[in-house]
Amino acid sequence: MQPIANTQQAEAWNGHEGAHWADNPDRYDSLNGGFNDALFEAAAIGERDRVLDIGCGTGQTTRLAARRAALGQAVGIDISAPMVERARTVATGEGIDNAVFEQGDAQVHAFPAGHYHVALSRGGVMFFADHVAAFSNIGGALRPGGRLVFICPQLPSPEGDSARIFAPVNALIRRPSPAQRGMVSLSDPSHVHEVLTAAGFTEVTVDGVEGLVDWGRNADEAVDFYFAMGPVRFNLDGLDEGVVRDARERVRTALQPYETPEGVRLRGAVWLATATRP
Ligand SMILES: C[S@@+](CC[C@H](N)C(=O)[O-])C[C@H]1O[C@@H](n2cnc3c(N)ncnc32)[C@H](O)[C@@H]1O
Repeated sequence: MQPIANTQQAEAWNGHEGAHWADNPDRYDSLNGGFNDALFEAAAIGERDRVLDIGCGTGQTTRLAARRAALGQAVGIDISAPMVERARTVATGEGIDNAVFEQGDAQVHAFPAGHYHVALSRGGVMFFADHVAAFSNIGGALRPGGRLVFICPQLPSPEGDSARIFAPVNALIRRPSPAQRGMVSLSDPSHVHEVLTAAGFTEVTVDGVEGLVDWGRNADEAVDFYFAMGPVRFNLDGLDEGVVRDARERVRTALQPYETPEGVRLRGAVWLATATRP
């Protein structure tokens, strides 16, 4: 049994947060897939590389890494049992035989030392209680000269489309869910620099990347999905039904102008961080 340091996150991602992701992998991949090109361009995976995907979730980025490392291997690690199970099922269904998934807490997981050429993550590295300990542990799994590449959310601009559209729900938030609290922990690029340097990485870069976030085919689908997401349910459960219905209608109305033949797409921005294990 591998150790777990982040027990609150483990509870959330093995509970309602993780269940919704595991049940809707394609929807979450549509939300986050607009940043894949930037992530994989920076990761520059070679065909014989061994790749570690941290907080791999249902495994889209692990599968993409495995295809690039056709003569190597991609290992996805995630603290969530339902998401790891879904990742295994999808990879098997796609006939990918060089992707492996493990359940574990990347902060303390006993990775093979100096093993991986690349460690990457699409939004799976923000949930550690101790970032320096976690990135030191991940650094130990990299070969000397190995690369760390991840994306993590920027703080949404208060004037941005998303902030305005989802304002009716944000006004109802009493306390962020555990996942939501983690989500913004690396949103300050100078903090990312500090943490990665303290964890022993060099050549740290943090750059902004913009992409389209695909919320669904139309405003109805988008609003249904948004209101079923873990952090939103965490805050709306138990509230007056009329208040929730009103917030829902206001979000739906705000989303309608963004409907296009390709779906409801909002601009999003993340940080792309890269670093090297010396
Ligand atoms: C925002 S989701 C991103 C999932 C996936 N990378 C993607 O892009 O679809 C964050 C993921 O990090 C995982 N996670 C959170 N804390 C973790 C930890 N300490 N160790 C490993 N995985 C963790 C969660 O279970 C979840 O799957």
